[in-house]
Amino acid sequence: MQEIRKYVSDNKQRFLDELFELLRFPSISADPKYKGDVLKTADYVAEKLKVAGADNVEICPTDGYPIVYGDKIIDSSLPTVLVYGHYDVQPADPLELWETPPFEPTIRDQKIYARGACDDKGQFYMHVKAFELMMETNTLPCNIKFMIEGEEEVGSANLGIFVGKNKERLKSDVVLISDTSMISLEHPSLETGLRGLSYVEVEVTGPNRDLHSGVYGGAVANPATILAKLIASLHDENNHITIPGFYDKVTELSQKEREDLNKAPYDEAEYKRDLEVGELWGEKGYSTLERTGTRPTLEVNGIWGGYIGEGAKTVLPSKAFAKISMRLVPNQNSDEITRLFQDHFEMIAPKSVKVKVSPHHGGEPVVTPTDSIAYQAAQKAILQSFGKEPIPTRGGGSIPIVALFEKELGIKTVLMGFGLDSDNLHSPNEKFDIANFYKGIETIPLFHKYFAELSK
Ligand code: BES
Ligand code: MN
Ligand code: MN
Repeated sequence: MQEIRKYVSDNKQRFLDELFELLRFPSISADPKYKGDVLKTADYVAEKLKVAGADNVEICPTDGYPIVYGDKIIDSSLPTVLVYGHYDVQPADPLELWETPPFEPTIRDQKIYARGACDDKGQFYMHVKAFELMMETNTLPCNIKFMIEGEEEVGSANLGIFVGKNKERLKSDVVLISDTSMISLEHPSLETGLRGLSYVEVEVTGPNRDLHSGVYGGAVANPATILAKLIASLHDENNHITIPGFYDKVTELSQKEREDLNKAPYDEAEYKRDLEVGELWGEKGYSTLERTGTRPTLEVNGIWGGYIGEGAKTVLPSKAFAKISMRLVPNQNSDEITRLFQDHFEMIAPKSVKVKVSPHHGGEPVVTPTDSIAYQAAQKAILQSFGKEPIPTRGGGSIPIVALFEKELGIKTVLMGFGLDSDNLHSPNEKFDIANFYKGIETIPLFHKYFAELSK
């Protein structure tokens, strides 16, 4: 522990400088305009893995963005940890809401502000530096494989194919991921589940062309109004989702599991204050922690149609659109829920409009084991570096590839995230506490140490 702390402290500034360099690449996977930058980011990651001491470093091409692979096999009889992360980031807009530019990392109040600071560059880079530390101090206790992809934020379509084709190369005993949140440095926690995702786009068409809203208004259904009504009908008065069959397969938690989950520190007043909302909203009968971690939800991510430019144009639009996501919990299935949505949405549409539902990417929910050697190793590592036992929580976000690792490789995952829910992931002013970055680098070698020890 002393040795770890000393290495981190001796290399503090360099670690930060390198992360800043990584954060300066606008590696936005969703926008083809940034293709060159995304590819350069992959090069940078590969280079840093090499310098840190990885062998077999390869920028593996896919039909989309490449996957950066690298490993260090010290002894084939020792256990192997597969570290997964992603070097791509979400688009940065709306740009005008950033206090400092998203790709010019800036420190304010001991926090790094940049797109990707927490999700996931700041977090996967902790693993690269922890690996360097173990190599330099001769303390790597197990084999390690890195797989850092560039399409997580757009659904990881090509990673699934890569994993299927590289089962032997990726063979490991556990997957270790830092791409989730913890409660706080004072209350370290480990996420023990992730929600799945169904994502659809809907298009509602009324008349065959935009119309003068005075000449035709009153005679023809306005697709924007119809869309608003259709969307509003997707929740009932208790904020349950109304799609028939939606909850049929949902695993209900036992009373004990619910009690345990609600033991996590949570301050509703502070939660509301932080978001500046007068009250919270959600499915009746469940606490906030349950609603975000263990219950499925349906959200409108974007809604548009008609005139949205400057000033007022009087028009009855021909079309209206929305992007709708559903977060899923065990044992729901993404394709099945997408189908239920589609059938329901087409069924409830009045004759005055036509609706089209187009599925986007999806992903399956997961629950990670809390009785495994790997989970115990994470608990011990956190206990040692934070001085406190981690609290198990359920994450509301999705990392679709985790279910795939289980299915394709038969390996379970440990979600050892060091970000905070309030780090503005996918929002303007994304940030990562410098303290969390260093704490992560300090905790990761302990995970490897205990995982190797407990595996004996
Ligand atoms: N790192 C996040 C997921 C996350 C964040 C999980 C915080 C738990 C806590 C990941 O990069 C992400 O944003 N995933 C997407 C899904 C993907 C298919 C675009 C998500 O959750 O919306
Ligand atoms: Mn992420
Ligand atoms: Mn993300």
